[in-house]
Amino acid sequence: MEKEFLGNTNFNISSQTVTESCPSNIALIKYWGKYENQIPANPSISYTLNHCRTNTTMEFSAGEEFSVQTFLAGNEEQKFAEKIEKYFKNIEQYLPWILKGKYVIRTENTFPHSSGIASSASGFGAIAKCLMQLDAAFSGSISEEVSLEKASFLARLGSGSACRSLYNGLVVWGNTKEVEGSSDLYAVQYPNDEIHPVFKNFNDWVLLIHEGEKSVSSTVGHGLMKTNPYAERRFQEAHENFATLKDILKTGDLEGFIKLTEHEALTLHALMMMSDPAFILMKTGTLEVINKIWEFRRITGLPLFFTLDAGANVHLLFPNDIESDKIKIFIKQELLPFTQNGGVVKDEMRF
Ligand code: DP6
Repeated sequence: MEKEFLGNTNFNISSQTVTESCPSNIALIKYWGKYENQIPANPSISYTLNHCRTNTTMEFSAGEEFSVQTFLAGNEEQKFAEKIEKYFKNIEQYLPWILKGKYVIRTENTFPHSSGIASSASGFGAIAKCLMQLDAAFSGSISEEVSLEKASFLARLGSGSACRSLYNGLVVWGNTKEVEGSSDLYAVQYPNDEIHPVFKNFNDWVLLIHEGEKSVSSTVGHGLMKTNPYAERRFQEAHENFATLKDILKTGDLEGFIKLTEHEALTLHALMMMSDPAFILMKTGTLEVINKIWEFRRITGLPLFFTLDAGANVHLLFPNDIESDKIKIFIKQELLPFTQNGGVVKDEMRF
């Protein structure tokens, strides 16, 4: 299967500067656990965000000795450069020209670094898009559809969740019988006409409960699934949740959506707590906010709910409709006090 992405060994390089932008995403059914070569242990689905993005400029100097220099918001980042160097060496068979020059890569995120919003997803997404632009210049252009698929394939090899950032709306990565064309190698867009309008205009406000480094990287977290005694059951449940979600999305069952999304978020954290060594990435504020959300829902019946990434911050999800003003007031008055510095990143999923 990977063969379809092997690169053209007939290429003609020249010095070029390309610029690309790629959004971040937030998973509803989570990817947690992987096999060799970035093959996911279960299918996942995410919303692509509208505002949180990475903008990347890649300067390629043809014919110079292979090296990578990276700047994050203007500051040189040696560690990131080393990671990219390794990544480029790893994908040479798919882009045979890739080690034949020098790179200066400048990236900027439109969201704070401390927000826990996956910068690796938008970051690798933008890099993969830059690489595909260079590839079109050096090896001849291919159709937009194939180029996007290959960008998603390459982004996955940088960071799994990044492959979902190449598409808008709801995006699936990982083979599932529920979604035609789904693959472990790249992401595909969830069919738009299978999504009820209520899910196409949503808010995602990220409450910054804890700013700073996470105590476990995603890569380490995925690795811990190898010895987690509940892993197989979890992978199976992700498949089952896809079947449930498909129905929810089609019928507009918001209540079912809330239940499934929160269950997935809590499962992710439960899996970390059941790892050896165990990790608790939620903070006191995370739990306070979750309890407040549940109480608010019980009293008002309004559709405010949450999902979590591998960190303490809380993604507040709610449809963008006539009731959203009441929800926004509640968030400001009751939930903002649990943030470390009053921080909230307001994004939305509109497609
Ligand atoms: C909890 O994509 O960051 O956000 O493939 O090792 O780079 P690597 O991991 P990464 O893992 C993301 C995990 C998650 C859930 C998700 O986005 O599906």
